[in-house]
Amino acid sequence: MEQLDLFDLSKYIGNKEDNNISPPENIPSNILDIIYQGDCMELLKQISENSVDLVFSSPPYNIGKVKNDRKSLEDYFNWQKDVLTECYRVLKDTGSLFWQVGTFVSNTGYNLPLDYRFFPILEDLNMIPRNRIIWIRPHGVHAKNKFSGRHETILWFTKTMNYKFFLEPIKVPQKYSNKKYWKGDKKGQFSCDPLGKNPGDVWAFRNVRHNHDEDTIHPTQFPEDIVERALLCTTLPGDIVLDPFMGVGTTAVVAKNFNRFFCGAEINPEYVEIANQRLSKEPDENGNFPNLKTLREYVKERNIQNSSKFTFTRQRKGTIPSIDSKAYTEEYHQEEIINRIEYEAENIVYKQLNFTSSEND
Ligand SMILES: C[S@@+](CC[C@H](N)C(=O)[O-])C[C@H]1O[C@@H](n2cnc3c(N)ncnc32)[C@H](O)[C@@H]1O
Repeated sequence: MEQLDLFDLSKYIGNKEDNNISPPENIPSNILDIIYQGDCMELLKQISENSVDLVFSSPPYNIGKVKNDRKSLEDYFNWQKDVLTECYRVLKDTGSLFWQVGTFVSNTGYNLPLDYRFFPILEDLNMIPRNRIIWIRPHGVHAKNKFSGRHETILWFTKTMNYKFFLEPIKVPQKYSNKKYWKGDKKGQFSCDPLGKNPGDVWAFRNVRHNHDEDTIHPTQFPEDIVERALLCTTLPGDIVLDPFMGVGTTAVVAKNFNRFFCGAEINPEYVEIANQRLSKEPDENGNFPNLKTLREYVKERNIQNSSKFTFTRQRKGTIPSIDSKAYTEEYHQEEIINRIEYEAENIVYKQLNFTSSEND
């Protein structure tokens, strides 16, 4: 498409060969581009105020899936408030914070969307809400006595009104990109931006399960795509991204892919090890990768024709890693989900039964 030359994407994305980006001076070198193994509060105390361009994180949901993940709700929110207060302190005035959360479910079935309680914490810190992004997910557990949960939220807050936001690198295709004015002064010109449109606040990235090629052993890993979108629209190459709950390092991997610096903590040493392996992009001494994606990238970069000597941790026994299987775009998933939701709305079981009975009359 010739229109894609209209602006230079590399200024947002960065250039892998560019070694001129000097490390930021306000972050100690012993915590820069390193995942700190330990409590995030210990790490945050080492970062001076006004140092970080973006905080992107998904804290434990307090549902017992990972270490430290079952406190009373009061203790949980007090702890999160302390972490967020530190995040606010280290964030630059132009910075953004994205907090990705799901739903807390108690043993008695009390169902609390966590974002509802995070809103006042962030507002009390004087942060400014920008978007409450809905991340829809087509699959999950089928609930018996409530509606099945099919979304999570990503809260985007900024520290001040003077925040960075770049729409260009994250635009998505227009439905009718070639539409032109058919009369008036602008006749013949495009009536919408042919480069694409704002992606909106409903995101349909696949969650990391069900054969997702990023899947590692972590039970609540988020996909690189959601970090990528937030990072590209709120930071530039050379900026610093912080994730206090790194898990298996998704935020760090995306930061490095796009020439940003990162810092972050993870309390579980096993996850830190996997994160470091993802960052190194190398197999271990047995030729194993933490996920299929790192294996694929390694093989492709080196033009290795026979990949059967490599494995990845989630590989099914006896199979050969699939190097070329297709990954669908977000638009594909979004359309599929919307079609499915519309189909389900029109096909409620009582309507189907009515239809059948009148047919039989
Ligand atoms: C929801 S997971 C984050 C997953 C991550 N986004 C990824 O894609 O891998 C939250 C992580 O926080 C870690 N964690 C829990 N308490 C912590 C603490 N006090 N300091 C640092 N990490 C902690 C857990 O071990 C878990 O891996």
